[in-house]
Amino acid sequence: MGLTIIGCGYLGEAVARQLQPRRPALPLTLTTTVTERHAELTDLADQLMLCDATDPAQLLAALQHKRTAVFCLAPRGNRQVNADGYRVTFVDSFRCLRSLLPDLPHLHQIIYTGSCSVYGDADGDWVDESTAPATGTEHGAVLLESERLITEMGDSKRQVCILRLAALYGPGRELDDRLKGLAGKERTGDGSFFSNWVHVHDAAGALIAAMDGAWSGVVNVVNDEPIRMRDLVDRSLKRQQLDAVHWSGGPAPVSGNGRRICNDRLKALGYRLQHPMLD
Ligand SMILES: NC(=O)c1ccc[n+]([C@@H]2O[C@H](COP(=O)([O-])OP(=O)(O)OC[C@H]3O[C@@H](n4cnc5c(N)ncnc54)[C@H](OP(=O)(O)O)[C@@H]3O)[C@@H](O)[C@H]2O)c1
Repeated sequence: MGLTIIGCGYLGEAVARQLQPRRPALPLTLTTTVTERHAELTDLADQLMLCDATDPAQLLAALQHKRTAVFCLAPRGNRQVNADGYRVTFVDSFRCLRSLLPDLPHLHQIIYTGSCSVYGDADGDWVDESTAPATGTEHGAVLLESERLITEMGDSKRQVCILRLAALYGPGRELDDRLKGLAGKERTGDGSFFSNWVHVHDAAGALIAAMDGAWSGVVNVVNDEPIRMRDLVDRSLKRQQLDAVHWSGGPAPVSGNGRRICNDRLKALGYRLQHPMLD
């Protein structure tokens, strides 16, 4: 029984930390694909396992007798990962999970942290869970296929919830640190593109609420403040007393105006954001 978090990177580890007070009543199994991470994860877990989710024997061992599986995995490395990297991480892992389901009779809940990037560009309009996802980009197609695979695993005995996350920020991934390199620089476009964010503590909190509340279906996990890139950058640089960015016009590196992600369903399910606005 208990819960396994497959992939304990930035978010998975934040979930594990928030669940610490509930151990050992809620036994926590954490996974990593690399032995070097054992030291930092071992105290957070009742069981720490080496598991690449594309490996059937390792995934079966990590999920056997568990009630809940949380998939917080993402392609490794800081560089931009191509669509094939996404496919291996998500699609291959979920195909592997699907093949194991007959051997996992105790598994009643699957939660997957997907991405709001499936919405693509909506020219600055609001989108919610009923908005048809965008097709067109290779990455988007992989994420949608991943969602489809996970959704198809739901039935009367097994609940499936897909949390579509906005971009994560928080300790270790502070916005000011990420944006200060833009100080005084010239950027093409006008920065009117909307970005959407959620604090890592809220992403973890919503995931735990999804587990406790047996949420199913798709839920956007995003704060209350979609923000244009130029406002985000200007605000951060001002706060840090750094030179502003000069938006030089012309074609932007990211075309379109982005989209504003609606979080009404998250709130209707009872989740109260700890960080409704960017700090
Ligand atoms: N970060 C964002 O801004 C953002 C935005 C939208 C959605 N999301 C979603 O949130 C989730 C977590 O993001 P994150 O920022 O926490 O990612 P992260 O820090 O990169 O952590 C992901 C972890 O997944 C593990 N992993 C990679 N491949 C694996 C595999 N084949 N089998 C098992 N584990 C594997 C790795 O753990 P080890 O290195 O320990 O093996 C890695 O540290 C992802 O699903 C992502 O789609 C994130």
